[in-house]
Amino acid sequence: NDDRFMFKYRGIYFQATYTSPQTIDSVQDFEVKDSDVFLVTFPKSGTVWTQQILSLIFNEGHRNGTEKIDNMSRVPWIEYNLYQIDYDSRPSPRLFTSHLPYYLVPKDLKNKKGKIIYVARNPKDVAVSYYHFYKIIVGITQKKDWESFLDDYLSGKVLCSSWFDHVKGWYNHQEDFNILFLTYEEMKKDLRSAVLKICRFVGKELKELEVEAIVEKATFHNMKQDPLANYTFVAEDIFDFNKGTFLRRGAVGDWKNLMTVAQNEKFDKFYNEKMKDVPMNFTWD
Ligand code: PPS
Repeated sequence: NDDRFMFKYRGIYFQATYTSPQTIDSVQDFEVKDSDVFLVTFPKSGTVWTQQILSLIFNEGHRNGTEKIDNMSRVPWIEYNLYQIDYDSRPSPRLFTSHLPYYLVPKDLKNKKGKIIYVARNPKDVAVSYYHFYKIIVGITQKKDWESFLDDYLSGKVLCSSWFDHVKGWYNHQEDFNILFLTYEEMKKDLRSAVLKICRFVGKELKELEVEAIVEKATFHNMKQDPLANYTFVAEDIFDFNKGTFLRRGAVGDWKNLMTVAQNEKFDKFYNEKMKDVPMNFTWD
């Protein structure tokens, strides 16, 4: 049952197979270096997309025989160390991914050591993407229909808990961190500008041709075919790709294909209540 699949620790649901309360605690004491870059997201918000961009910004052109390394190894999750990489002895600049809320990331980040890129996506598309993604996660015995998944999503009974608390938490505490906020929708609208924003933020000056190459390799179409970026490299005891793909549709507004009018009204009501004091604007279609 789902109780065994995930556990709740310090207010957040984690996937039980791949982490533990001890690991989550140890993350907070992880020693951050100034050159570290952390990509932080709520799931399904553009994580693997930004992993691809970051790995390209830092590695492309000088991969030096490391071109076979997949993106999960290049930008590994700090709280889910699936490949058991020794993070302390990684060469700099180190890149990490995390789905953690603002209050569980390494404390050093709060002293403005290292950099954070936070990517947010409109929560309706996140819900839909998450619903499809849940079908391919191995280990969830109780697969939900859309209606009950949506209820769980709104009440934060999914991995990583509430989208609302996550985004709100990070948004309201951005002054405490060295952070760049991006949205999935702005990346979708103008990928080149988003890449340049990231370059500026991480202090990487690239030539025009290099920027073009990154944009090219980070389109949905090309990423879907890139075996190091499309997550087909993940072991079959983690994802069952007979049930769906990781790079599914990659669009803005796909929620309209799944949400009923009533569900949408309920969602809007919930959103307006939860986000009423947060001046964030999302593109919904
Ligand atoms: S996870 O599990 O948190 O790492 O998932 P995450 O990568 O955050 O989200 C997956 C969704 O991002 C879409 N995606 C992209 N969209 C546009 N362009 C590119 N290059 C791209 N790469 C990944 C992916 O398709 C998932 O969204 P949906 O809506 O399900 O297609």
